[in-house]
Amino acid sequence: MDLDIASVAEQPGREELWAQLDNCWPRFMMQDPTSGLYYGYVKTAYPEYALLAVDRDTGRAVAKAMSVPLAFDGDIAAGLPEGGWDWAIRTSAHDRLRGAEPTIVSALEILIRPDLRGSGLSGVMLTAMRDNVAKLGFRDLVAPVRPSGRSGHAHTPIDGYAHATRPDGLPVDPWLRVHVRAGARIVNVAHSSMVIPGTLAQWREWTGLPFDTSGPVEVPEALVPVHCDATQDQAVYVEPNVWVHHRI
Ligand SMILES: CC(C)(COP(=O)(O)OP(=O)(O)OC[C@H]1O[C@@H](n2cnc3c(N)ncnc32)[C@H](O)[C@@H]1OP(=O)(O)O)[C@@H](O)C(=O)NCCC(=O)NCCS
Repeated sequence: MDLDIASVAEQPGREELWAQLDNCWPRFMMQDPTSGLYYGYVKTAYPEYALLAVDRDTGRAVAKAMSVPLAFDGDIAAGLPEGGWDWAIRTSAHDRLRGAEPTIVSALEILIRPDLRGSGLSGVMLTAMRDNVAKLGFRDLVAPVRPSGRSGHAHTPIDGYAHATRPDGLPVDPWLRVHVRAGARIVNVAHSSMVIPGTLAQWREWTGLPFDTSGPVEVPEALVPVHCDATQDQAVYVEPNVWVHHRI
């Protein structure tokens, strides 16, 4: 496939192409209250960090790769924050408010158009993100990776899964495998990477499930069960991700 991969800064105004990749996530995954701090400001605050891949032959959008710059003065190898994805977005927003210079970049999302998944495009987009980070002058790309192979195994403890390897030494999880093959090192689990709260009515609307009994609820495509408290009319999804570090 002949891909044209460009950032919003390089190719502004491709709204219709970007829109072709809307609604590719399960509905509940679009409800993280932190996400608007990034996605609401991509064009104005982060245009260099948002990449869109277009198939030159069909003219259709194929994939996107989103990242965010932030200031981090800790030792990455010693561990990255439990707050994962939400932390990366909030830290970048605070940095902008206080005028702090970013020192690293965090990946936020690589999304392949559903009909093109399984054809090796994820590695291509990850390479494009790594190259972009280098071009922007950074040497460290971190990523709170969503271990997508966990879907359907919501009760498996995340800590063991994050470090589980195949006989060839590569991660069992396919998406972590792509990162490690590209040169990343697994750092630690971010146990509360995306926190998505809602009333039971909201959760019913997002998932089509009854949400009428207190206790863990398995939701398709969720990596862990959603905690449901029917007495308090509240449910919350706390998604664990796995921090990886690409030294560019
Ligand atoms: C996760 C995602 C980015 C992977 O992209 P992809 O282009 O479909 O994956 P690839 O074809 O490059 O395959 C990558 C690895 O996953 C494996 N894989 C692909 N589809 C798979 C499936 N349905 N089940 C299990 N493994 C699968 C491949 O075999 C490959 O591993 P290998 O090279 O060791 O054989 C893509 O499925 C996606 O967009 N998912 C939804 C969004 C998401 O979860 N993004 C990641 C978090 S931001």
